[in-house]
Amino acid sequence: MTKLDLHYTDPRLVDLYDIENPHGPDFDFFLHLADELKAQRIFDLGCGTGLLTRQLAGNGRKVIGVDPSSAMLAYARRQPGAGRVQWIEGDSGALGTPAADLVLMTSNVAQVFLDDAEWATVLHHIHAALRPGGHLAFESRNPDDRGWERWNPETTFARLETPHGPVESWLEVVGVENGRVHFKGHNVFKKTGEVLVVDSELRYRSHAELTTSLNNAGFTVEHLYGDWKRGPFANTSRIMVFVARRD
Ligand SMILES: C[S@@+](CC[C@H](N)C(=O)[O-])C[C@H]1O[C@@H](n2cnc3c(N)ncnc32)[C@H](O)[C@@H]1O
Repeated sequence: MTKLDLHYTDPRLVDLYDIENPHGPDFDFFLHLADELKAQRIFDLGCGTGLLTRQLAGNGRKVIGVDPSSAMLAYARRQPGAGRVQWIEGDSGALGTPAADLVLMTSNVAQVFLDDAEWATVLHHIHAALRPGGHLAFESRNPDDRGWERWNPETTFARLETPHGPVESWLEVVGVENGRVHFKGHNVFKKTGEVLVVDSELRYRSHAELTTSLNNAGFTVEHLYGDWKRGPFANTSRIMVFVARRD
């Protein structure tokens, strides 16, 4: 399994996650999609702190959040409405064969799978978890946009008020090779002076690579959007939003 970043394993950094990544148009997109598809059994793979997972649950829907990070799940389980969700600590291998209507991977979870064999295995597990005609939806950053070139300490600097006092954070790109972007996330806890540096890597696959991998795993791409308003994908789009149907 992919080695987990410190971002997802250190409870102090987990406490920052929802502050740095609040509800946005991406979550509205996935909530709307789940309604539109009338999905009754939903898996949120890489659910993290479960901010979206908890919103999906309710109204008789069965929602299952799966994540390999015990720290992320511990946070998720403490939040209001957590009881409506079933939480599973594990990776895609934990999905099983439940004939689900919808599997989601949100906030670029698809990019944590660095090598192609691992990505193919994840898609295979998702295929097995869905009923025929069920859907997989996820986004991935567009490599043609070269967004990492906008990541530097100045442009990414943020000062956050957190339960641990003020925290200053920024990103620094270390290298780009073979479709992988290696970067460091710096976090300075101003109250204690403690510094936590997260060493991280993300895989950037092109829309053609993602489409081929989905087809090989037994999916048909129904939609490829270039933004959260369902605008068409173009080479200049920052993100690629895939909605694929299990054949
Ligand atoms: C950027 S966070 C996204 C969390 C959540 N989906 C959201 O929208 O806020 C990435 C999540 O992927 C999880 N993750 C890392 N490796 C994974 C794997 N092999 N399988 C499933 N999830 C994984 C991490 O633990 C983390 O919670």
